[in-house]
Amino acid sequence: MKTGGRIFLVDDDELIVTMTARSLKKKGYETQVQTSAKDIFNKIVAWHPDLILLDIHLDENTNGLDILAEIKREKLATPVVMLTSDDSAESAIKAMKLGAVDYLTKPFNIDEVHIVVANILENSRLKDEVEYLRKTGLSCVETQIVGESPAMKSILQKVEMFAKAKTGSLLITGESGTGKEVLARYFHTIYHGEISNDAEYTPFIAINCTALPENLIESELFGHTRGAFTDAKTDKKGVFELADGGTLLLDEFGDMRLDMQSKFLRVLETRTVRRLGGKIDLHFNAAIIAATNTELKKAVEVGEFREDLFYRLNTFAVHLPPLRDRIEDIPYLAQHFLDFFAHQYFKKDLKGFSPEAAKALTQARWPGNIRELRNVIERCVVLQSGDLITMEHLPVELTGTTLVERRKNTQIILPENGLSLDELEKDLVHQAMVRANYNKTKAAKLLNITYDTLRYQVKKHDLDR
Ligand SMILES: Nc1ncnc2c1ncn2[C@@H]1O[C@H](COP(=O)(O)OP(=O)(O)OP(=O)(O)O)[C@@H](O)[C@H]1O
Ligand SMILES: [Mg+2]
Repeated sequence: MKTGGRIFLVDDDELIVTMTARSLKKKGYETQVQTSAKDIFNKIVAWHPDLILLDIHLDENTNGLDILAEIKREKLATPVVMLTSDDSAESAIKAMKLGAVDYLTKPFNIDEVHIVVANILENSRLKDEVEYLRKTGLSCVETQIVGESPAMKSILQKVEMFAKAKTGSLLITGESGTGKEVLARYFHTIYHGEISNDAEYTPFIAINCTALPENLIESELFGHTRGAFTDAKTDKKGVFELADGGTLLLDEFGDMRLDMQSKFLRVLETRTVRRLGGKIDLHFNAAIIAATNTELKKAVEVGEFREDLFYRLNTFAVHLPPLRDRIEDIPYLAQHFLDFFAHQYFKKDLKGFSPEAAKALTQARWPGNIRELRNVIERCVVLQSGDLITMEHLPVELTGTTLVERRKNTQIILPENGLSLDELEKDLVHQAMVRANYNKTKAAKLLNITYDTLRYQVKKHDLDR
């Protein structure tokens, strides 16, 4: 838990104030104290603390609750903990009703104060983060789509045309990590950009069709009315309604149950949904994107996917090829992620990749596609402190094959848990022999050793043909 934060402490008891403040300071908080009611409100505004500890009985004329009320009236977001000296529940209840986040009864235990303070500050941090994420909607990476390969360029063009034509639905297929969600957001931005002039405020609702338990998926998708089933205590909108005016992304769509597929097809064709237990069809207006990494055509053949739904969706479809089939994108993506993470981790000197590292990146197979590339680059950025990412920063899975090519000017980095020097020697001599087609003179040259030494090595490791 992160400590630190600014705490404003108001109490007329000098001793309590001094002792509490001292102990909070020791824990790493900044404190500001006050023992009179004078000018409190202005001081709060001026110092904007993260938390206020406020006594209820300040002096003859001032009640802490009045100050609390003023704080709330003026809509200051600072959380307030009331300090009471009587343990009658009455004033505590009053304080909570007025909007205090908590209260402490004097004489209080200092450990209790620490716990209460830490929890509240942690909570407000989380709240801020959520608010921030909600406001920005997309993370910086996801707003920008990188696609320089001919394959990607034609995909982007196609998606743009579909979006401008307001096709209403889009099917995106591709292996995991190829950027289906990124592409869905791209479609969303273009689709709604012109209508609202502000794509950020049109809803983009994403739902993972496999993450939901079977008994919940239906009510999650279509919503329900109160009393539709035992747990349905209130009315609830389904995702189609929530996405009204925006876009609905149904992720992992290929794994949807057959009976749900039929219902979905009807929704797609009528553009209406009926809530579970509902009596009327509700019209909605949203672009619907289905994304999947299963091959739908095959699923149709084995009877796991409805043929009519497949053809309906396949009218407007794009397939994202795996990264290994569009290696032209790799340098651009790598640089894009490097810039992004260099900024995030304050590595302002970090500019790019050594030629060897760049080559290794394009030669890797990337089974996890762009997501894997992104993770690898993030790790490199964290580990690097110079201006280039070199072979030594890349994970061994990527560099293993080119270890020998790096003979000149490069070091072999000793793995964390060590290695067998003998094995390494054997491996290198073997590689040299293979490459030299078992010509010992050539092999010796590759390893920069004499013919005799090589002969000795070959014998030692039993590497002759
Ligand atoms: N063209 C791109 N440009 C920039 N970043 C991309 C691109 N494609 C994917 N990414 C990044 O790669 C990661 C994975 O992308 P995304 O989540 O869209 O993949 P996905 O196909 O939906 O994967 P899954 O099938 O596992 O859900 C994300 O962090 C995303 O930002
Ligand atoms: Mg996805």
